[in-house]
Amino acid sequence: MFNFFKKKSDTHFKDLTTDLHSHLIPGVDDGVQSMEEAIALLRKFSESGYRKVITTPHIMHDFYNNSEGELSKIHADVVKRLAHERIDITFELAAEYYLDDHLNERINDPSAQFLTFGKNYLLFETSFMNEPFYLAEFIFKAKSRGLNPVMAHPERYNYLHSDSDLLQKLIERQVLFQLNINSLSGYYSKQVRKFAHTLIDKKLIHFVGSDCHNTTHFDTLSASKKTKYYTKVLELPLLNRQL
Ligand SMILES: [Fe+2]
Repeated sequence: MFNFFKKKSDTHFKDLTTDLHSHLIPGVDDGVQSMEEAIALLRKFSESGYRKVITTPHIMHDFYNNSEGELSKIHADVVKRLAHERIDITFELAAEYYLDDHLNERINDPSAQFLTFGKNYLLFETSFMNEPFYLAEFIFKAKSRGLNPVMAHPERYNYLHSDSDLLQKLIERQVLFQLNINSLSGYYSKQVRKFAHTLIDKKLIHFVGSDCHNTTHFDTLSASKKTKYYTKVLELPLLNRQL
């Protein structure tokens, strides 16, 4: 009897019920393109056991020129539709900010409002190839205004793979790391998978996310969820559980 309850409790603790990082606001980036697709995908998240999805559309100057206000309006429409369809999931909005000189300037503006999640967490991504010149400066400025920077999919940045000094600096500056589930199956590349394993072995992952863009993408997550390292990352004290 005792074992039965213990097992149930452990399972509950290890389940990842909140997804952080996806592109489910219709028609604003390279994610879902219609309300129907957004609803179909959120139904899949709900049926897979997720209780909450915090979606993070791209905000990238000159590429995805999304404003926080416009994204909030479309997000509200999706929330209404979810209620209408009686889909049992909480759907929240944040954003994935691309770090370029525009963002590095904008973060100086005290009137600029950012789409954050949880404890003022700000999800940001960078170029895959080169370390942004102003990475340290941006982190300092974000923290100075009370934001907690979360680096999206650090395992995907080539410039980080062989730069342990930079990795150490990011840790010292208290940047949090969000791993993409699909990095664990080799979906992006073998190199990315290898670095994902290193980050998990070093216990450096704080959040796990699907980075889901469409239905096909969602279906590929199951291969990653069967890997040894997915079990291993769920054993870390992930902050998803506090969202
Ligand atoms: Fe993304």
